[in-house]
Amino acid sequence: MDVDLLAPATQEDWYPTYQYLRDESPVYRIPGTDDYVVSRYDDIMHVLRHQRTFPAGSSKRRSLAAQAVYDRGGWERMTPLGTNPPVHRHYRALVDHFFTGAGLARWRPVIERFIDEQFSSFERDGEVEWSSQYAVPLPVRVITHMLGLPEADIPKLKQWSAAWILPFVRPLQPDEDVWVAEQVVEMYGYLAEQIAEKRRSPGEDIITHLTAAELTGEDELRPLTDQEIITIVDHLFVGGNETTTFAMTSALWVLLREPGLYERLGADPSLVPLFVEEVLRLESPTQGLWRAVAEDTEIAGTPIPKGSSVHLRYASGNRDERMFPEPTAVRLDRANSRRHLAFTLGEHQCPGADLSRLEQVLTLQEVLRRLPELRLDPERNDFTHVPMFTMRALKQLHLRFTPP
Ligand code: HEM
Repeated sequence: MDVDLLAPATQEDWYPTYQYLRDESPVYRIPGTDDYVVSRYDDIMHVLRHQRTFPAGSSKRRSLAAQAVYDRGGWERMTPLGTNPPVHRHYRALVDHFFTGAGLARWRPVIERFIDEQFSSFERDGEVEWSSQYAVPLPVRVITHMLGLPEADIPKLKQWSAAWILPFVRPLQPDEDVWVAEQVVEMYGYLAEQIAEKRRSPGEDIITHLTAAELTGEDELRPLTDQEIITIVDHLFVGGNETTTFAMTSALWVLLREPGLYERLGADPSLVPLFVEEVLRLESPTQGLWRAVAEDTEIAGTPIPKGSSVHLRYASGNRDERMFPEPTAVRLDRANSRRHLAFTLGEHQCPGADLSRLEQVLTLQEVLRRLPELRLDPERNDFTHVPMFTMRALKQLHLRFTPP
């Protein structure tokens, strides 16, 4: 089999390529590069467990022209959440508590209100384009509210967010690299103004909290700089919307394409959380991400030189039959249902995982309750995906149902 990871046909349906890679070339060097794709679950876990050898980030650099855009604005494109231990743990300690346990429960009423409003906006129509009318607006409204940013700014935040993720989507041309840098610098400027505003009039939101938070430094606590707050908040904003959108769209597709599933969940909504995990495993929004290589090493017998990059193909690990029996089936009885890699595991495990799960579970419960006789529109769907290397997203999903 010819492997071409950038071919649109591969990106439309990754799974035969993953199967081939797992079986024939589990540590695959992309021809003409120093990049290695790791596709088996256990090998991905090996990389995640050895973070000194495989630190966060890739060994790649942005173009000089793009760097100049940051330099002119006086910005470093730092990534506090993309650092490595021990400092990474200190940054994570400042944000994790918003997205788990009691910290997350505090936001639940507002999430439920937004869900109700989004359903009310289309439920009398008997049809909906699920991605643009629900799966895009819901998570973006939630994270905007949690951060304490004005809802009116969502259109431009969304534009910056799309630019921000572009380098993760596909390799960029030099002029695109510069355009992304310009957009990101614009977003930084906007966030700097928002931070100044929060310092003047504090709220109950995450940005306000970060302006007052203290980071454990080498030997003392110190406040975060604006640059640090900005580059934590941009990660939370981008992470908080794009991937959850993709997950929610895939969830409805899987729900309605698998015979009997909609009826089964309708009869027993307590199965919804297990279903959410299965969709994350089967149609992982983040198909894979990079790690750098800090020293000469090997993975499963393949030598990997220092300075190369490894690409962890989480979505392939999630369909590895050595880990998940009957990997292509939606099974609501897996003992290891939460061991998938959609949020990765280990040091960089997604801080927003429980928020995303909550949004998805509440959404699906509402779907089962409020959209009777839900079905895929037989005429308007082609079930194609946006061609992307790192992410997976259905372009659109037209649904029909019986209005109240
Ligand atoms: C279905 C939804 C989501 C998916 C599939 C997802 C996926 C991921 C993955 C795979 C990583 C690890 C990156 C790596 O390997 O280096 C990650 C990290 C991250 N995610 Fe998510 N995420 C989701 C939702 C969210 C939400 C709702 C937020 C915001 C609240 C968020 C914020 C972040 C941040 C800030 C990181 C960086 C963490 C670090 O490196 O320490 N994500 N996410």
